[in-house]
Amino acid sequence: MLRIAFCILLAPFASAQLSGSVGPTTPLSDKSTLCNILDYGGNIGSSDIGPAIQKAFDVGTLVRVPNLIRILAGDYDMQTWVTLTGGSSWAFRLDGLITRTATTGGNMIAVENAYDFEFYSKNSAGGIQGAGYQCRNDGPRLIRMVTSERWSLHDLILVDSPEFHLVIQQGSGGEVYNLAIRGADIGGSDGVDVWGENYWIHDVEVTNRDECVTVKSPASNILVERIWCNQSGGSAMGSLGANTSIANILYQNVYTVGGNQAYMIKSNGGSGTVKDVVFQDFISRDTAYGLNVNQYWASESTQPGDGIQLYNITFKNWDGNVADGVQRSPIQILCADGAPCYDINLDDVYMWSLTDEATWKCESAYGTGACLKSGSSHKSYAVETTTYTQPSGYTTPTTMSGDLTAGFGSTTLIPTPTIPTMFYPGLPQISPLMKNK
Ligand SMILES: *[C@@H]1O[C@H](CO)[C@@H](O)[C@H](O)[C@H]1NC(C)=O
Ligand SMILES: *[C@@H]1O[C@H](CO)[C@@H](O)[C@H](O)[C@H]1NC(C)=O
Ligand SMILES: *[C@@H]1O[C@H](CO)[C@@H](O)[C@H](O)[C@H]1NC(C)=O
Repeated sequence: MLRIAFCILLAPFASAQLSGSVGPTTPLSDKSTLCNILDYGGNIGSSDIGPAIQKAFDVGTLVRVPNLIRILAGDYDMQTWVTLTGGSSWAFRLDGLITRTATTGGNMIAVENAYDFEFYSKNSAGGIQGAGYQCRNDGPRLIRMVTSERWSLHDLILVDSPEFHLVIQQGSGGEVYNLAIRGADIGGSDGVDVWGENYWIHDVEVTNRDECVTVKSPASNILVERIWCNQSGGSAMGSLGANTSIANILYQNVYTVGGNQAYMIKSNGGSGTVKDVVFQDFISRDTAYGLNVNQYWASESTQPGDGIQLYNITFKNWDGNVADGVQRSPIQILCADGAPCYDINLDDVYMWSLTDEATWKCESAYGTGACLKSGSSHKSYAVETTTYTQPSGYTTPTTMSGDLTAGFGSTTLIPTPTIPTMFYPGLPQISPLMKNK
C-alpha cells in the first residue's frame, strides 16, 4: 500500500519527464472524413489488403485533410507491405485482424514523416497476426514508425512477428499505449524498441523472449510506465555502441515475470554517454538476471570506443527475485574499465533470489548501494563478487492475475490475446480502452 501511495505522489514529476506535448494535435472527432478501404478494392476476407491500404492512403490523405482511413472488423490477409509517407492530420483505424501471408522482409506497415497522426482500433481488438512460426527471423517486422511527429498508436494487438513487433525510429512527440504484444519465447521477438525524443509509452503488455520496452540511442525525454513484461525477455537500454547519446529517461511501474531480466543496460565497448536516468517502482519475479548493467555484454561484438560513460542513474524502490542468485546475481553493475560509471544510486532496491542465496557484482562502478564504491576518484577496478543476505526491506513480490507461467512456442500458432486493463499491480491503466469509452 505504501508503495502505491508513493507512486501517486510522484505523478507530477512523471509528466515533467517529457519535453513537450505528445500525441496528435487534432482530436479524432475532427478526423471524420471517412475513407473506408472497402472503397479502394479491399474486402473482408481479402487475401491481400496491402494494395487497398496504400491506395486509400494515397487518394485519401493527400487530397482530403483531415482524414480517417478505416478497416472494418473482420479477418484480412496481407502480402504486400505498405509505406505510408508524409500524411498529416490523419488517422488509421484498424478494427480488423490482419494476418501476414508473405515472407518479404521490411515492415508490414511503415508510417514515415507523419504529422498529427493516430493509429488505433476503436473496438480494442484490431491488430496484426504475424504468424512468425511459419518464417522465423525471415520475414517482416509488423509496424515501424519513422521520423514522425505528434502521433499516437494505441489499442492494438500485435502477435508473433517473424522479427520485431513495433519499432519507433526517431521522430518526436509520440504516445504509445494500451497494447498487447505476444511473441514467441525466443530471441529476435522484440516488443517495443524506441529511439527519438519526447515519447510517452505506457500501459503495454509484452510476452516474448527478447526486448519488452527498450530504449535505444539516441534518445531523450522518454517516459515509460505501467509496463507488464509477462514472460518477456525484459526491458533494456541498448545494445549501445559508438556515440551513444541517451539522457532524461524515466521508467516507472514496470512489472516483469519470468524472462531474462528486470532491467538491463547493455553494451560492449562503445562511446558517448547515458545520463540522468531514473528507474523506479519495479517489481520482478523469477527472472534470470535482475538489475543488470553489463558493459561487457558478450552477446554484442566489441564496439569502437573505451566504453560508454554512465552517470547520474538512479534505481529506486525495487522489489524482485531471480531464479538463482548465485548463478546470476540479482544486482550486477559491470561498468567499462575505460569509463568507470559514477553517481549510480540504488535506493530501496530489494533484490533477492528464489534459492535464498545471492551475490552482487560490481566492476569500475561508483555510487551508493549494493557493492558500488564511494569516492570521487573513479578508477577502474576488477569485478568484485560479494555474497549478501536477504535485504530486510525485501518482501516476496506481488503477482498479477493473468501472469504467464511459460512463454509461447516458436513453431505453432500463437493465439491472439485481448488487451489487459491493468499493467502494474494496484495501478489502473492511464487511459481506458477505446472499447470501454
Ligand atoms: C561517431 O562519431 C565520430 C565523430 O563524429 C564519427 O567519426 C564516427 O563515424 C561515429 N561512429 C558511429 C558508429 O556513428
Ligand atoms: C540527475 O538526473 C535527474 C533525473 O533525470 C535530474 O533530475 C537531475 O537534475 C540530474 N542531476 C544532475 C546533477 O544533473
Ligand atoms: C499474460 O499471461 C496470461 C497467462 O497465460 C495470459 O492469460 C494473458 O493473456 C497474458 N497477457 C497477454 C495480453 O498476452
